[in-house]
Amino acid sequence: MRAKSASSFAQYAGILDTDPHEYDKLVEALTINVSKFFRNPETFASIATKVLPELWAAPSPLVRIWSAGCATGEEPYSLAVLCREYALAHGDLSKLERLRIIGSDIDRESVTVASRGRYPAGAFTDTSPAVREKYFPLENGLFSVSPEIRNLVSFERRDILEGGGPGGRLHMVVCRNVIIYFTRDTQERLFERFHDLLLPGAFLVLGKVETLLGKSREMFAPVSSRERIYRRL
Ligand SMILES: C[S@@+](CC[C@H](N)C(=O)[O-])C[C@H]1O[C@@H](n2cnc3c(N)ncnc32)[C@H](O)[C@@H]1O
Repeated sequence: MRAKSASSFAQYAGILDTDPHEYDKLVEALTINVSKFFRNPETFASIATKVLPELWAAPSPLVRIWSAGCATGEEPYSLAVLCREYALAHGDLSKLERLRIIGSDIDRESVTVASRGRYPAGAFTDTSPAVREKYFPLENGLFSVSPEIRNLVSFERRDILEGGGPGGRLHMVVCRNVIIYFTRDTQERLFERFHDLLLPGAFLVLGKVETLLGKSREMFAPVSSRERIYRRL
């Protein structure tokens, strides 16, 4: 409101209605878009051992992973690296052809940064130097996502509280450090939505300080309580 010299909520609401760019600016100001590659590395290690073997064995023609509330893209790219490393370790890169990783965020500017795929060194403090060197070559002072990782991920602007998911039933939803900002009712509604979007037996991963609430505790079973990995029942 100060930036627009609005003296009342009503006046600011009027600006939101008439200025097409103001809504994006408001969302950008209100959202917290901090992320890192392999944030909480132990969670990624658990996904590799407890989730990927099942996704690899799944008979489906497509395997869909949704990073919901991905901020500037570090999380879906980390998932892509994890999957590629898994495929290499199992000598079957062809399995990556059926993999679809979708990163989405409500904040348009974050999605633009994610699609660009260029990051400062600070984004890699939780990443092993070997992985950074292998998949993120340094170009003009920034680390660029290499094509074999970039090609596994698509991005879109999406409000996780509105509409459906990113198309098709999902094998895993990773939604970390997003719902902490929501009310309890909204969190419960969101868990029900994730339940509808996930295939039976598919996986949900939450942030380290987030947990299932109310009815949703009967809709998912813990796979790793510590890493907040759950299986849809
Ligand atoms: C702290 S970041 C988390 C990024 C990443 N998941 C991680 O854990 O590193 C939270 C993100 O949630 C997004 N967000 C908040 N509300 C959202 C909503 N309703 N729909 C989609 N994204 C939302 C914010 O824009 C922000 O980028």
